[in-house]
Amino acid sequence: MEGGEKVSKLEVPKRITSLVFEPEEIGGMVVKNRLVRSATYEGMASEDGSVTGELVELYKTLAEGGVGLIITGYAYVQPSGKPLPRQTGIDRDDLIPGLRKIAETVHEHGNGCKVAIQLVHCGRQSFFLEKTVAPSAVLDPLSSNMPREMTIEEIEETIEAFAEAARRVKEAGFDAVQLHAAHGYLLSQFLSPHTNRRTDEYGGSTENRIKIVEDIYKRTVEKTGKDFPILIKMNVDDFLEDGIDLNESRKIAQRLSKIGFAAIETSGGMDETAIRDKEELGWTPAYPAFCRTNIRSKDKEAYHLPYAREIKKVIDVPLILVGGIRSLDVIEKILAEGSADFAALSRPLIREPDLPNRWLKGTGGLTADCISCNGCVGSLVEGGVRCIHKEITEQESAS
Ligand SMILES: Cc1cc2nc3c(=O)[nH]c(=O)nc-3n(C[C@H](O)[C@H](O)[C@H](O)COP(=O)(O)O)c2cc1C
Repeated sequence: MEGGEKVSKLEVPKRITSLVFEPEEIGGMVVKNRLVRSATYEGMASEDGSVTGELVELYKTLAEGGVGLIITGYAYVQPSGKPLPRQTGIDRDDLIPGLRKIAETVHEHGNGCKVAIQLVHCGRQSFFLEKTVAPSAVLDPLSSNMPREMTIEEIEETIEAFAEAARRVKEAGFDAVQLHAAHGYLLSQFLSPHTNRRTDEYGGSTENRIKIVEDIYKRTVEKTGKDFPILIKMNVDDFLEDGIDLNESRKIAQRLSKIGFAAIETSGGMDETAIRDKEELGWTPAYPAFCRTNIRSKDKEAYHLPYAREIKKVIDVPLILVGGIRSLDVIEKILAEGSADFAALSRPLIREPDLPNRWLKGTGGLTADCISCNGCVGSLVEGGVRCIHKEITEQESAS
């Protein structure tokens, strides 16, 4: 046992844990295990978007914790697409040296851990910008932003901005890049018939709504080369009557896989879903569509799994499942039945960045300590992301 540390007997047979800790490839990038840190906005960059020591420290801790692939919090590709303050920027070359520190730190301390940056343009979904743009002028009910419809020239500029940002990701020494096309941000707004009412080549049919993503992919490959993995996170369901449903997300995922994306991460929901849930539940759950609360039993875990099972049938690239995954044996079952190739976690790794190592060593229980209270979402208002529940628990036990 390492350093005389007390390690409890592994609660699951070796046969079961082995799959989680088996390496797998994503577009030629070898990931040492099947655990992914899903993109998590940190709120730790400088006001100008540059990387801070606090941010580097966060990624050092995560890398040391044993996760196979880290996807950073979303970085904005254009100032017009910045959803939140203290967000990491990737819209300028002078930001590359700071970003390089994250990549180098993860590689130095992560024992083979890989790291990707997630790229975003927020479109209408911003609590930061006074004026927003979007595929169409559809009100964002959460921020009350009424966006202006983007012109073709603006769409072209955004395609170039994403591709240039991806070039910077590669130049800064990262292993991969992920496009954020989920949760109602700009690319998700283009994909969704609810927010995309355009009648030109970027709107209408499913193929047209995918066009901006396809254009970004092609432009990126021109700059980064074919061997640099480009991942994408998408909605399997917008959870809206006129949004993307499983029938359509299957078509979208199939197309994205054919286009050449190296892996697809499946999530769901956008601002409208949060508002509807607020009205129905009578309180303000923080984006429960993709950050569901109170996952206190195994049957509530992996809430997008039924979708993943269907999407997996139509794609030829690895599927990364995210959303409420909390237990090692649940992950093992998902991998064993072939419904996903990777399990991504956000909130559990805010609480316990060393959860993968804990599971590997067999210490503690099979379920993460995270109680899915979304206190971490609230923590962003007063500084960098952290687990509020852990802080409260520690204060209570100290007093
Ligand atoms: C504090 C916080 C910040 C997040 N930031 C991002 C982000 O930058 N990009 C993204 O795609 N999803 C983001 N998410 C959503 C997570 O990646 C994930 O999809 C969601 O939390 C469900 O996974 P979980 O149950 O493991 O937390 C964020 C979630 C939280 C709690």
